[in-house]
Amino acid sequence: MKNECWGIILAAGQGRRLLSATNGEAKQFLHLEGDPLWWRAAENIAASPLVHGLVIVFPAEKRPDAENDLAALLKRNSLGVPIVTATGGERRQDSVLNGMKALPPSCEIILVHDSARPFASTSLTTRVVLALEENGQISGVIPGVAVTDTIKKADGEGICLETPDRASLRAVQTPQAFWRPELENAHAWAAEHGMEGTDDAMLLEACGKKILIVEGEENNIKITRPSDLRLLSPASAPVPCCGYGYDVHAYGGNRPLRLGGILIGGDLMVSAHSDGDVLLHALTDAILGCFGGGDIGRLFPDSDPLLDNVSSVAMLDHVLGLAAEAGIKIVHADLTVIAQAPKLAPFAEQIRTNAARLLSLSPCHVGFKATTEEHLGFTGELKGIKAVALVSALRESGTN
Ligand code: CTP
Ligand code: MG
Repeated sequence: MKNECWGIILAAGQGRRLLSATNGEAKQFLHLEGDPLWWRAAENIAASPLVHGLVIVFPAEKRPDAENDLAALLKRNSLGVPIVTATGGERRQDSVLNGMKALPPSCEIILVHDSARPFASTSLTTRVVLALEENGQISGVIPGVAVTDTIKKADGEGICLETPDRASLRAVQTPQAFWRPELENAHAWAAEHGMEGTDDAMLLEACGKKILIVEGEENNIKITRPSDLRLLSPASAPVPCCGYGYDVHAYGGNRPLRLGGILIGGDLMVSAHSDGDVLLHALTDAILGCFGGGDIGRLFPDSDPLLDNVSSVAMLDHVLGLAAEAGIKIVHADLTVIAQAPKLAPFAEQIRTNAARLLSLSPCHVGFKATTEEHLGFTGELKGIKAVALVSALRESGTN
């Protein structure tokens, strides 16, 4: 209230972690209910009565187009405060620095906000700025939420190094508010010491400054990964889809027979590059079929020596991850193995429940059957074994 506060809306990143799902568009230019995310972020921040103006930072190459869009959007809603634009830099903190250079001399408090957080409420902005104004001992105020996962520190190989006490951990967000000279000094210090920070508070902390964490918002998600894109689409009915998979393995190899992740063993050995689980291969292909994900041979080529004897469960697991990213929720699988021998009835229930477990489905949503071809064809002649799988799934609308 007493101090002049300006927001810096950062919209100059490349959104690398999301590019695969956006046709190369940086995430801040994606739309939420018809408007670009950077505009949503700007609207939410500017609506706080404590905010006196905004600097929106765009990538150099996009700035002219973005300024045209801004002019059009301002005709619809002037936001009620002065708006200026700036050109971003290589790293996030370079963009903040460029944004700070565009601030008027009268600005006393800087509120830095990621445009990739379009859901931050206006009251969060007000709360953060008020907390800064009310606390003279503090250099900055940032929102944070308690973490629900246990967080591990790991080395480059993924080996756990330590487990910090969860009660003391916060996942921090933006908008972050700082006294202007403190933020400017911290950026100058970081430039001098070659320090890079993923948020601005880090830079002040490194300078020994006190930062207060206030309660953030669960919904204040930063759009970062492809799975976050669903948050940008209005909830609508998921689209049913199904995928079909078929696979054959010859007998006479050196892999013991496994089906659905269960070791069957016996005299009939399978010929395969992987561990040769024909049923999981058919199932994996059926899942890929639900989202046009290609086929197992393309994902795991049998010319790749690293995949020699690879576990079919691991391949399935990888494809389940791709399916989840594509917005696919598997709801049912029907599996059939066609083999003259061995007799599979004794294993049927075990195969069914294990397949259900691998798919995270209740066993009543998985069917398993085994049949012979009455001594006909290659299965009838005990030359090989085949499997077919049909998977039903729901695809969230808005994913592509
Ligand atoms: N940002 C920016 N300038 C940069 C890098 C990031 O203005 N050089 C902005 C982004 O546009 C985003 C915010 O900082 O709104 C948070 O950064 P992040 O989520 O890391 O976005 P990106 O850097 O764009 O994404 P990625 O790290 O996946 O490439
Ligand atoms: Mg980044």
